[in-house]
Amino acid sequence: GTVVLAYSGGLDTSCILVWLKEEGYDVITYLANIGQEEDFDAAKKKAESLGAKKVFIEDLRAEFVEEFIWPSVQANAVYEDRYLLGTSVARPCIARRQIQIARQEGAQYVSHGATGKGNDQIRFELTCYALYPEVKIIAPWRIPEFYNRFVGRKDLMEYAEKHGIPVPVTPKAPWSMDANLMHISYESGILENPKSHAPADLYLMTKSPEDAPNSPDVLEIEFKKGVPIKVTHVKEGKSKDTPLDIFSYLNEIGGRHGVGRIDIVENRFIGMKSRGIYETPGGTILYHAHLDIETFTMDREVRRIKQGLGVKFAEMLYNGFWYSPECEFVRHCIDKSQESVEGKVQLSVFKGQVYILGRESPKSLYNEELVSSIPGGLSPHWPLLWNSESIQTPNPQCPLGWLSADQS
Ligand code: ARG
Ligand code: SIN
Repeated sequence: GTVVLAYSGGLDTSCILVWLKEEGYDVITYLANIGQEEDFDAAKKKAESLGAKKVFIEDLRAEFVEEFIWPSVQANAVYEDRYLLGTSVARPCIARRQIQIARQEGAQYVSHGATGKGNDQIRFELTCYALYPEVKIIAPWRIPEFYNRFVGRKDLMEYAEKHGIPVPVTPKAPWSMDANLMHISYESGILENPKSHAPADLYLMTKSPEDAPNSPDVLEIEFKKGVPIKVTHVKEGKSKDTPLDIFSYLNEIGGRHGVGRIDIVENRFIGMKSRGIYETPGGTILYHAHLDIETFTMDREVRRIKQGLGVKFAEMLYNGFWYSPECEFVRHCIDKSQESVEGKVQLSVFKGQVYILGRESPKSLYNEELVSSIPGGLSPHWPLLWNSESIQTPNPQCPLGWLSADQS
């Protein structure tokens, strides 16, 4: 049979490629460009030289931003109060294309190099089954004949030498990384001791806030339907207006100022805690900016319901259920909630922080006249039950005293 292997160009998936061939499969390799630093040409040549029947290198960056990162921004998606889900959100995007290739090439099998202990195997496989229910998945790190043979990196190296697989020349970092446009994650290896601090040179996307410039960059981000449509550097006057350019530019600014670093212990879906370090510069800027414009333009009660949906969405995303009826339903609701989330947020990026400076919106529900400091209470005109634009007038149905005076 034919198998489409999600290939990274690294040692593990190169060994998997050759091993699948040895097992009698025709192997097609597929490498997604989702914004990671990578020599795609070299990976292509490597896969060909190892006997791949066909090699796909797919540039998914624009669809990754528009179809996966943007919905996460709209949702304010955060897992366990801190993790912005940079790896989680890339998996359905990568696996979707893998399935398209499998169908197009008439392959019955797909394969990946995720371990048997992590979240990624689940995200890949749930996506594959959702989009191609008959597909058969080969997960070597869950197959005893494979994992008993490759117990340590030494075994992979030996196998590589024996089979003409180029062995990495630069020594491997003592942790594992996953990089894409949205973030880089670091875990495993020396980071497994939750007490040990990350070395300063671990971070590749962000500067340390200590080494960041001593003056801020001030940006204006314009939103429409809850997603950014333009970012402008206020002093330099330059601006970006395509999703990929906007996101890449925010990464650059956030990275320069050391924004978006976290070091956490999280709960994996499979039932274990794991220590992870993440840097999400652009995503962190957008998280703060979106929260601000959303609160400014969204009805209070809608916001509360939507906030709960966002927590639910983050959980489903983390657990690999992007393509599920429940997640599609929630995404739809969240999208609906964003109809009037538009306007401009001005913010300053400085020393690892994002400082909101101001906001404006044609859909603002903020009533400056109403809030202005007239001494004395609002009675008998309050409470204002609905702060939608159409009903910013006192509600005659709701006489004084129905609700406590300290409602917020
Ligand atoms: N713990 C994070 C998550 O589950 C990051 C996983 C990193 N994956 C990797 N293959 N290194 O989303
Ligand atoms: C892996 O196990 O492949 C990486 C970690 C994870 O997926 O959670």
